[in-house]
Amino acid sequence: MHFPEYYIKNDGMQRKNAEDTLNMYIKKMVWKSNEIILDVGCGPGDVTSDILYPLLKNKINQLVGADKSKEMVEYATKTYGCSMIDFKVLDIENVNDCSFYSNQFNKIFSFFCLHWVHNKVDSLCSMHLMLKSGGEILLNFLFINPLAESYKFMDTEWQKYIKDVKQMSHDLDARDEIKEIVIKAGFRIINLESSVKKFTFSDLSTLLNTLKAVDEMYSFLPEHLHDRYAAHVKEKICQTQMVEICPITGKAIFIYIPITVHAIKD
Ligand SMILES: C[S@@+](CC[C@H](N)C(=O)[O-])C[C@H]1O[C@@H](n2cnc3c(N)ncnc32)[C@H](O)[C@@H]1O
Repeated sequence: MHFPEYYIKNDGMQRKNAEDTLNMYIKKMVWKSNEIILDVGCGPGDVTSDILYPLLKNKINQLVGADKSKEMVEYATKTYGCSMIDFKVLDIENVNDCSFYSNQFNKIFSFFCLHWVHNKVDSLCSMHLMLKSGGEILLNFLFINPLAESYKFMDTEWQKYIKDVKQMSHDLDARDEIKEIVIKAGFRIINLESSVKKFTFSDLSTLLNTLKAVDEMYSFLPEHLHDRYAAHVKEKICQTQMVEICPITGKAIFIYIPITVHAIKD
């Protein structure tokens, strides 16, 4: 995910998801004044700045958006950086990066990022380390990464590229596995919920653009293969149960299972 402009044009579903999650959970969190907040996997920064910040601005001193992609952080800084919002390059899987921020934050948020993170145990331990005592996390991510799912069914021609991408994501087998790693990282779970959701796109190509904006395969594939690969993704995604097309309107419904974890460092 290194193309911030393309991502931002195609992130309506992610924005809606962050908005719904925050509207549900912000009031359940305990707030003091002058808090310092981290948003892990902030991407191009629009969710951090347009959705998270307006809800927090009276409670906080500083909001830091962090992402492992330098391109995303540069775009976010240029577009949304201000005295209250700062953006940093940070890989949540890199314990050394994270230990620099030990006991720094009152809250850590993360939207649509953790399904790309391979080592969720280390990442959660790092979040625990970066939080002050009494700090809270609110994580929202996908139970099944739709692209990782479609990679499983792709033709052999694409498998040699997929091998590199696959290392970036690891689906969890069950809700209990998530529960276990959150607790293992030292958190007390306040709420952990998952449910099937649907997002309606105006048509199938708009849905496919959203997937393309997060598909790491484009970083590995030679450019002359991009169009053929996109056609293959279309074919495979349509064979899964994640997409339904309305035969009358042509609208494309994406079916996904987000997980929300609200937990505290006692
Ligand atoms: C789908 S985008 C989500 C962006 C934004 N949070 C939103 O809701 O629109 C996922 C982001 O997570 C970032 N990411 C993936 N793995 C990460 C890691 N290990 N550490 C930090 N960021 C990561 C990617 O670079 C990408 O920008």
